[in-house]
Amino acid sequence: MHVRASLHHDFKISRIDDRLYSAFIEHMGRAIYSGIYEPGHPQADLNGFRKDVLELVRDLHIPAIRYPGGNFVSAYHWEDGIGPKENRPVRLDLAWRSKESNQVGINEFAQWAQMAGIEMMLAVNLGSRSLEDARNFAEYTLHPGGTYWSDLRRSHGVQEPYNVKMWCLGNEMDGPWQIGQKKAKEYGQLANQTAKALKALDSNIEAIVCGSSNDQMPTYPDWEREVLEECYENVDYISLHKYFGNSSRDTLNYFAKIEETGRYIQAIGGVIDFVKAKKRAKNDVYICFDEWNVWYHRREEDARRWHEWNWPEAPALLEEDYNFEDALFVAGLINEFIRRSDRVRIACIAQLVNVIAPIRAEKGGPAWRQTIYYPYQFASLYGRGTALDVAVDGPTYDCNVASDVNYLDAAAVHDEKAGMVTLFLVNRHLEEDVDLDMTLTGFSNARLVEHNVMAGFGLRDTNGADNPDAVAPRNGTGIGVDNSRIKGKLAALSYHVLRLDISTGVST
Ligand code: AHR
Repeated sequence: MHVRASLHHDFKISRIDDRLYSAFIEHMGRAIYSGIYEPGHPQADLNGFRKDVLELVRDLHIPAIRYPGGNFVSAYHWEDGIGPKENRPVRLDLAWRSKESNQVGINEFAQWAQMAGIEMMLAVNLGSRSLEDARNFAEYTLHPGGTYWSDLRRSHGVQEPYNVKMWCLGNEMDGPWQIGQKKAKEYGQLANQTAKALKALDSNIEAIVCGSSNDQMPTYPDWEREVLEECYENVDYISLHKYFGNSSRDTLNYFAKIEETGRYIQAIGGVIDFVKAKKRAKNDVYICFDEWNVWYHRREEDARRWHEWNWPEAPALLEEDYNFEDALFVAGLINEFIRRSDRVRIACIAQLVNVIAPIRAEKGGPAWRQTIYYPYQFASLYGRGTALDVAVDGPTYDCNVASDVNYLDAAAVHDEKAGMVTLFLVNRHLEEDVDLDMTLTGFSNARLVEHNVMAGFGLRDTNGADNPDAVAPRNGTGIGVDNSRIKGKLAALSYHVLRLDISTGVST
C-alpha cells in the first residue's frame, strides 16, 4: 500500500503543553494500596512506597498526576487522611463498595509524587460536600502558615505548602453513578463559586470544570454549554473523559474510535467558542482530557463482582491485561491528542498502576510494564515541542464509527531546543505493509538517529508476571532518510517512533 505524506517546518498546529502526558491515580482497587504503597513488600522503602513501581513510574517522565479520584472523590473526606496514621478512620468508599483505610492521604501522596518528580493535580469533592470543604483542603495544601488549616499541616510535619496549580472541581458530576450527581446549571453555579473561592485563596490556581462523563451521555453536549454559561470566566479548562473497548473484536472499527475522539474534542472546542462569544469573554478555556484509556477486557465481570462483594479493602479491580492491539490503539490516540494540542492542553492516562494501568504490580510480587506503557512512554519522552501537521495521502477505510479513516496514523513533533523532529506512525492495516514516501520541507540535513518499533506480535499478545517483556519495542530497520525524503516499509499492524536529528540546519 503506497502512502505519500508530507511535513512542513512552518505548518504548525500548536506548542504542546508538556502536561499532555499526565496521568491519573485514584483511591480504588489496588492502585494506591499494593500498587504504589505496600509496607512489608520486599521493595518497599521506609515509608511503605514500592521502589520497583516508582522506578517504572519515573521512567515515564510524567509531568502531572490527578488525585485522589475519580468517583472516589465524590464522597471523600480528605481530613480522614491527615495526622497520625493510627488515628485515621476506616471508611466505606461508596463509589467502589470497598473499605478505605486512609493510610495514604494528601501528605503521603505528595511525598510519593515528589519522589516520582510529578506535579500534583488535585480534585475536590463537589458531590457529597461543597465549597467550604474545597476551600479548607486548598488552604491546608497551599497556605504557608499562621491559619488554622495551614498550621494543622505544619503540625503534621509539612512546613512548606505544596505548589498545586491544577484543581479539578469534582468528578463526572453528570453521571447517575456519581455520589451527589447534579444538574448542569446547579453544578455550573457551584463550580463557579468554588473556582472563585480557590482563586481568592491563590491567584495562580487553574480551575478545571467537569464536562460530560463521555460523549455518549444523553445530556452531552448541552451539559458543557450550560455548565460553561455559569462559570466560563472563572475556569481555565473543561474536563473530558473517554474509555475505549473492542468487545466486538473489530480491530479497524476499534482504531477508528480515535477519529470519533477527534470529533468529540472538536465539538467541545465549538461549545467553548460559542460560550466565549455569547459572554463576550476575554479569557480562553482549554480542554483537560483527564481520563482516557482502554477499558473493556474485564469491565462487565468487574461490575458484577463489585456490586456483589462485601466491602473488601483494596480488592483487585479493573485490572485489565492490555494486548498489542491496545498498544496500537493507545499510540494512535496519543497521536490524536498531539494533532489536537491547540485545544487539548492537559491529558491524563487513567490510571497509572494496576487499575486500567500501564503498570501492574502483584501484591508481594513483581511489577511490570503492560503493552500500552511503551507508546505512552515514547510520547512523553519525545512528544514535547511543537506539533506539526502531517499531510497523509493514502488508502482509507470506512467503518461503523467513522469514514475515510487513514490506514496510516501519523503525528509529528518538532523539539526546537533539541533540534529533533519525532514522527509517531501507526500502520493500522491488518495485512498490508505501508510503502512510505514522506517529504520534509523546511528542514535540511535530516538524519535518522533512532527508530523504535513495535511489530510482529499477535493482536492478543500481552505481558504478564511470567513474561513481562513479551510485547516490547525493539530497534527498527527498513527506513531510509535522505536529507528531505523518508522512504521505507512499515509492516502491517506496526508502531514506529522515528527520531530525526535536524540540528545541522533549517532551510527556508
Ligand atoms: O477511572 C475509573 C473511573 O472511571 C473513575 O473513577 C471515574 O471518573 C470514571 O467513570
